[in-house]
Amino acid sequence: MPTIKEGFQDLEHRYLFQETARRVAAYRASHPGADLIPLGIGDVTRPLAPAVIQAMHEAVDDLSRQDSFVGYGPEQGHLWLREAIARGDYETRGITLGPDEIFVSDGAKSDLGNISDLFSGDNRVGITDPVYPVYLDTNVIDSRRVAFIPCTEENGFTGEIPSERLDLIYLCYPNNPTGAIITREKLSAWVRYALENEAVILYDSAYEAYIQDPSLPHSIYEIEGARACALEFRSYSKTAGFTGVRCGYTIVPKELTARGRHGERISMNWLWDRRQGCKFNGASYMAQRGALALYSEEGKKQAQESVRAYLETAGLIRQGLSRAGLTAYGGENAPYVWAKTPDGIGSWDFFDLLLDKAGVIVTPGSGFGREGEGWFRITSFNDRARTAEAMERIKTYLNGR
Ligand code: MLT
Repeated sequence: MPTIKEGFQDLEHRYLFQETARRVAAYRASHPGADLIPLGIGDVTRPLAPAVIQAMHEAVDDLSRQDSFVGYGPEQGHLWLREAIARGDYETRGITLGPDEIFVSDGAKSDLGNISDLFSGDNRVGITDPVYPVYLDTNVIDSRRVAFIPCTEENGFTGEIPSERLDLIYLCYPNNPTGAIITREKLSAWVRYALENEAVILYDSAYEAYIQDPSLPHSIYEIEGARACALEFRSYSKTAGFTGVRCGYTIVPKELTARGRHGERISMNWLWDRRQGCKFNGASYMAQRGALALYSEEGKKQAQESVRAYLETAGLIRQGLSRAGLTAYGGENAPYVWAKTPDGIGSWDFFDLLLDKAGVIVTPGSGFGREGEGWFRITSFNDRARTAEAMERIKTYLNGR
């Protein structure tokens, strides 16, 4: 009989969003017809941009004809998409990337999880707390030692640069779950730390499209030296409504190396290419054609319109929570608002209370780490009217307690 990898046995019984879904399903089963407003998992609700829809229809038509049929694409993604990414997402910010440094995938979550494949079990990993649970879970699976970097109200949810030596550091800005941002100065300090300590930064910038403040960096490669110490993960999920379509990409610069078994430097770009060649057959042709449409003038405008609408909803959440007497952060350069539970109520207890008393689904802060205890996260991805109603319900419930 096979035995199970140790780390899998060390995981929490359910992934965070599986547990919230389980509780919601149980509630629905015992309260048939309950009118629940989901503001929990960061799943978008606005339809895809018309330019994307048209491109995907055309892609399906391509597949229906012998002369335009497309089978396996390159595992790294079609060259036309990688070139569009290099031009549209990076050149416009003064960053030069070769298409062979861009790896298209079925989304940032997969890449952020799969990247763990490359690193040995004895690396010491720095993880901000609270954090997107994928970073922690995948390192638990590989039984790595984790150092938590507390991101608290006091330090503006960005955490201190560690004094100890870490090998891998996960950063996510704009941040999931807190909605916090990182300044150019702070990100430069992280890059300096990584270069001095020969560490690698895994930079998740899935929410960069939400940045409104022009002084904030959208990409870690805006910082000098980052090409030698950082990978970057991006996604079309939250920027263009691709949560169901599935497409994202990862940047692995040619300069980036890590140590081999004899102390030699191994190219991370080569290694990721090798890993993808072995385990991945590329993102779907339709998804990639849809993503390509986002680099057209109209596609870009249409996607920006959705981001703008979600940010407006985020503003409404902040306002609603503060009217309900709660302390809230984020939502200005991010689609997430991070709020303190009243009277120190535990995160899961408050999740259950809001579900039951207000019919509003949020995400409990402690699901993102120990520092999230006593907090909860609300997403701005539902529509304006339903979100406004959720805010009213929360206020009414809190006032009536
Ligand atoms: C979230 O709610 O944190 C996100 O939807 C998770 C994800 O992007 O996988």
